[in-house]
Amino acid sequence: MEHFIQKRVIVTGGAGFLGSHLCEQLLAAGHEVTAIDNFYTGTKRNILHLLGNPYFELIRHDTTFPIYLETDQIYNLACPASPVHYQNDPVQTTKVNVHGSINMLGLAKRIGARILQASTSEVYGNPAVHPQPEHYLGCVNPVGLRSCYDEGKRCAETLFFDYYRQHQISIKVARIFNTYGPRMHPNDGRVVSNFILQALRNEPITVYGDGTQTRSFCYVDDLIDGLIRLMESPQELTGPINLGNPGEVTMLELAEAVCELTGSRSPICLKPLPADDPERREPDIRLAQQHLGWSPRVPLREGLTRTIAYFEQLLTGRAPEAEARAPTTAQASNTVTLRPGTAPVEATLPKVEARH
Ligand SMILES: NC(=O)c1ccc[n+]([C@@H]2O[C@H](COP(=O)([O-])OP(=O)(O)OC[C@H]3O[C@@H](n4cnc5c(N)ncnc54)[C@H](O)[C@@H]3O)[C@@H](O)[C@H]2O)c1
Repeated sequence: MEHFIQKRVIVTGGAGFLGSHLCEQLLAAGHEVTAIDNFYTGTKRNILHLLGNPYFELIRHDTTFPIYLETDQIYNLACPASPVHYQNDPVQTTKVNVHGSINMLGLAKRIGARILQASTSEVYGNPAVHPQPEHYLGCVNPVGLRSCYDEGKRCAETLFFDYYRQHQISIKVARIFNTYGPRMHPNDGRVVSNFILQALRNEPITVYGDGTQTRSFCYVDDLIDGLIRLMESPQELTGPINLGNPGEVTMLELAEAVCELTGSRSPICLKPLPADDPERREPDIRLAQQHLGWSPRVPLREGLTRTIAYFEQLLTGRAPEAEARAPTTAQASNTVTLRPGTAPVEATLPKVEARH
C-alpha cells in the first residue's frame, strides 16, 4: 500500500476564487495548509468554513514583502486575475508578480520547498497560433492596459526558470486558461459571472464584438485537480504546462446556454470590442494529458449549472459563505496579521461591464 505523507503546504492567494478551492482539496487530501492573503480581491468568507480545521491556518500578508515560514510546498497564486482588478492598481499588479515571486522563490530556496507558479494563458497575448502549445512564445503588447498582468506573469515565469537554473530549486509552472465556478467574484467583469448575473436579473446580456470570438472555459474542480497533479509530478517536469478546457465556445453560444439554464428572459445586446481583447484563446493540453494523465472532465453545461446555483444563492443571500456559521473566537484566532493588507478593491470600484 502506498504510504501517505502529510505535507505542509502554503497557498498564496488562498482566500481567492481558485486558492480557496485549492486549500479545500489539499485539506481533504490530509495535508496541513497555510493560506497567505492580503484580501486584495479575496475574502475571508471564501474560507470561513475552513477556519475551524486544526490543519488550516490563515495569514494576512502581502507577498510583495518577505515572509519566513517552514513548508514543503508553495502554490503561488497571489495576484488579482481579472482586468478590472489588475488594472485598478497596475503597479501593484506588476509588483505582486515580480517582487511577490522573488519573495516566494527566495523562501523556497532557503527551505528547500517545491514551488508552483499560477501563470496564465495571457502570456500568449493575442495569439497567432491556435490552439496555443507551450512552445508558442506569444504576441504580447508590452505597453498596453493589460501589460501589467501579461508581462508581469511573463517575468514571473522568467524568475521561476532563473531560480531553477541558478539555484536548482524545484519548480512547476502552470499556464491556466479561463476557469469558472462557485466563488468567482460577482463584479469582476469576467464573462461567465457577468452573463449569469445579467440572466438571473433578467437584464440585457452584453456581448462584445459580434459574439463570434471564442473562449474555452475550465470548471474549477478540474483545474485544481490539474494543479495538484502538476505539483506532485516528477521533479524533472517543470512545465510550463497548459491547464484548461480545449472545448471552444463562442460568446453568443455561451450567452444562449446561460439564458437557457437560468430560464432567463434577458435579450442579448452587442457592444464594441475592448482594446487588446484576444479573438481566440484555446489551450493545447497534450502535454498535460501525456505527463499528468489530466484532462478536464466537467462538461460546460454541468459546470454552468453548478455556478448558476452559487450565484442564485448569492443574490438571495443564501450563498454557502453567507450561510457559514460565524467563527468562534478560537477559529478567528487562526488569523494572524503580519502587515496591514490593501483595502479590498470591491469597495472602491464602480460596477463594471463584462470583459471576455
Ligand atoms: N481564474 C482564472 O481563470 C485564472 C486564469 C489564469 C490564471 N489565473 C491565476 O490564478 C491565480 C488565482 O486567480 P483567481 O481567479 O483565484 O483570482 P482571485 O483574485 O480570486 O485570487 C487572487 C488572490 O490573491 C490575493 N492577493 C492579491 N495580491 C496579493 C498580495 N500582494 N499578497 C497576498 N495576496 C494577494 C487576493 O486577495 C486573492 O485572494 C492568479 O495568480 C491568477 O493570475 C487565474
